[in-house]
Amino acid sequence: MSLVTILPSGKTIDVVAGTTLLAAILAADETITHKCEGKAACGTCHIYLQEGRKGVSKIGREENERLDTIVGIGSKSRLACQATVLGTENIKVELLGFGSGL
Ligand code: FES
Repeated sequence: MSLVTILPSGKTIDVVAGTTLLAAILAADETITHKCEGKAACGTCHIYLQEGRKGVSKIGREENERLDTIVGIGSKSRLACQATVLGTENIKVELLGFGSGL
């Protein structure tokens, strides 16, 4: 179990290991665009992982390739639909207020 804090609202939610950040964010009643429904195909679920980098799954090839196509990515960028909570540490994510995907 990890505590996930969602910025900018500061809302927190307990998340079971194996849950994607996208599912966690939606479960917290936060709004996040996810046009391709979690297939790493649209990039609209781009978020910044502010804390807890080791508490989520590593970036896979599909996610990496999709991130490469997004404007405004940085070292904290993840696709919420591809990052799975490992339950090993608490996590802080930042929702981005702009549509960065296709
Ligand atoms: S929902 Fe499309 S890439 Fe995550």
